[in-house]
Amino acid sequence: MRVTANEIRKMFLGFFTQNGHKEIGNASLVPKNDPTLLIINSGMAPIKSFFTGESIPPNRRLCNIQRCVRTNDIENVGDPHHLTFFEMMGNWSIGDYFKKESIRLSWNLIKDAFGFDISKISVTVFGGDEKIPNVPPDVESMEIWSNFLPDERIVPLGADSNFWGPAGDTGPCGPCTEVFYDRGLEKGCGKSDCGPECECGRFLEIWNAGVFMQYYLHEDGSFSNLPLLSVDAGAGIERFSFALQEASSIYETDVFLPLFQVIGSKINLNEHERSARILADHARTTVFMIADGIFPGKTKREYVLRRIMRRVLLHVNLLGIDSAIFLEIAKATTQSLAHHYPLLIKNNGLTQEIIRSETISFAKVLSKGLREFDKIVFKSDSNVVSGEDAFKLHDTLGFPLELTKEIAESRNMSVNISDYLTLLNEQRNKSRL
Ligand code: GLY
Repeated sequence: MRVTANEIRKMFLGFFTQNGHKEIGNASLVPKNDPTLLIINSGMAPIKSFFTGESIPPNRRLCNIQRCVRTNDIENVGDPHHLTFFEMMGNWSIGDYFKKESIRLSWNLIKDAFGFDISKISVTVFGGDEKIPNVPPDVESMEIWSNFLPDERIVPLGADSNFWGPAGDTGPCGPCTEVFYDRGLEKGCGKSDCGPECECGRFLEIWNAGVFMQYYLHEDGSFSNLPLLSVDAGAGIERFSFALQEASSIYETDVFLPLFQVIGSKINLNEHERSARILADHARTTVFMIADGIFPGKTKREYVLRRIMRRVLLHVNLLGIDSAIFLEIAKATTQSLAHHYPLLIKNNGLTQEIIRSETISFAKVLSKGLREFDKIVFKSDSNVVSGEDAFKLHDTLGFPLELTKEIAESRNMSVNISDYLTLLNEQRNKSRL
């Protein structure tokens, strides 16, 4: 193993502090005074007010490592690189440097500090998008990158890839430039035009090396200019580990080793790769959310946690193993990261208690749900669960759609989502009358 996750953490902070950045503490996953956001989802989310000018930063160059939860890609967890919990290494300029210095710093970090094989690096930049016609293509960043990389490895893309933010419904945002690591031809689709925009997995996004914070998005969809030109950059330690350790997936890095030792002692990891990955990722998310005082419940961030925990419990059930594995993975997570997050140790008793009680309360719902599901399968003459049946499971048992989908998948069935959504909307409209 070339470099461990802990070494990456130290090297990143060392590089930016040596370059004039002040290391700031990291924040709870529960946003403070920010009704636009349920859970901290990026390094910049807790320090948004520096970008808007509402508060004064302790230094104009900052860095830290921030625990983050993102569930927008939850369906992809199980593939080689998606996670719901990650530690984001962040560096910021608050009205100090902008594109030129930001890209220079990024280049020095990748090439000199981490020693990446530069022939495997590509970048993307904002190439303009008719969805946001007032934001021009980022020609300046393209020109700056061309001092370091050949033009064919500087890829202009649209707003979905290269316009970041806000972290929440409204707030600071801007065009961004991202760094990709080429894992090799054999890791992807093999097409001659495969590049960072391809979804095949060959090109791994390792760093949002700079959101050029320039705009504020308002509730009505309009943009205004921020008082300062700033930079917000973020990289997951886990993705850096994946690339630098040349692992075959993020789960094969040293970050996940202690968790997979637990999981591998109960199931065959090759046979149950996707479930094993879901258990590891979701248990980590659970541990951090509970340690930050979020408990499973019916609404908002509490519901986010409940869905995550119930997905772990569903997979445990599908695998036919003892649910105590959830507690064991949680313990392994606590032990492996306690050094950086003492609150994990402090709240370990609470975490274990909450996992135990959610396991007990979900067991009844799950066994009823599985019985109902079996009845659905029995009466069905196709391999599609109707929207009506999926809605009934949700409405009568509180069974979330994604669990119905998971159970269906485990039996080679699919769910009629559009009919399900129609029924859900009808119910919502009725309850508004
Ligand atoms: N804040 C930049 C990012 O999360 O990608």
